[in-house]
Amino acid sequence: MLIAQITDIHLGFEPDSPAEFNRQRLDRTLERLVALDPLPDLLLATGDLVDRGDVDSYRRLQEAFAGLPFPVEMCLGNHDDRANFAAVFPVRQYVGGYLQYTLAAGPLRLIVLDTLEPGRHGGAFCEARAQWLRAALGADTTTPTLIVQHHPPIEVGIAWMNTDPSEPWVHRLAECLTGRDNVIGLVCGHIHRATSCHWQGLTVATCPSTAPQVTLDLRPIDPARPDNRAMIIAEPPAYALHFWNGREIVTHWDTAQDYPVLARFDANLAPMVGEMLAERPI
Ligand SMILES: [Fe+2]
Repeated sequence: MLIAQITDIHLGFEPDSPAEFNRQRLDRTLERLVALDPLPDLLLATGDLVDRGDVDSYRRLQEAFAGLPFPVEMCLGNHDDRANFAAVFPVRQYVGGYLQYTLAAGPLRLIVLDTLEPGRHGGAFCEARAQWLRAALGADTTTPTLIVQHHPPIEVGIAWMNTDPSEPWVHRLAECLTGRDNVIGLVCGHIHRATSCHWQGLTVATCPSTAPQVTLDLRPIDPARPDNRAMIIAEPPAYALHFWNGREIVTHWDTAQDYPVLARFDANLAPMVGEMLAERPI
């Protein structure tokens, strides 16, 4: 089972510009995913699908996703708008007005959560959403389950993007997930960088964005003293590949960019490959 993830697409950052930079970066990433061998079984797009929550941008997203050789499942981020998303993608499942749903994905089960709170940059997870999650988790306590959402419930160290671990929504989510042995991980976005963390007994992995990245800068930040630091940089667009090996979910990150090849599987390297395969198992 191979699950690709993209996040923080931010289509419509340049309004009325269908060929905008973020669309080019999305298309480069999708071209890369379509060329993968093996192909992903599923693509997750984990929020901030568009930049301003407008219907036109969701239509452009729909156009960009059209014809992909794998299904696409989405969740909402702080830049998204539930009503405008639903106007373009009406088949998605809403529970109590929130875009939360479960999904069978081969041997895995995905639980997609909605952490959007309109008007707020950071995440949210109210009691209504938590009640639904408890029921969903209780309904299947054996199938390996991956949690999918936009906001990471962790303090990543990039001061202006941090989640404060004391935020009530973090506690509520943690209370739902703690002790659920079949929950194998939580994948999310929002940070515009790749990170991983052990949290509440499971691995939380943030996927780097297709839109420009947040600079890796772990210094404190003071809104009253702008210091001209770089905040957003044009690193290559990137994606994650979550590989289920039958026991664990293994997350790979890569960029939609070609690099110089320094070694190839040719006659010179074939003996080494043979040795490496032959020495298993020990
Ligand atoms: Fe974002």
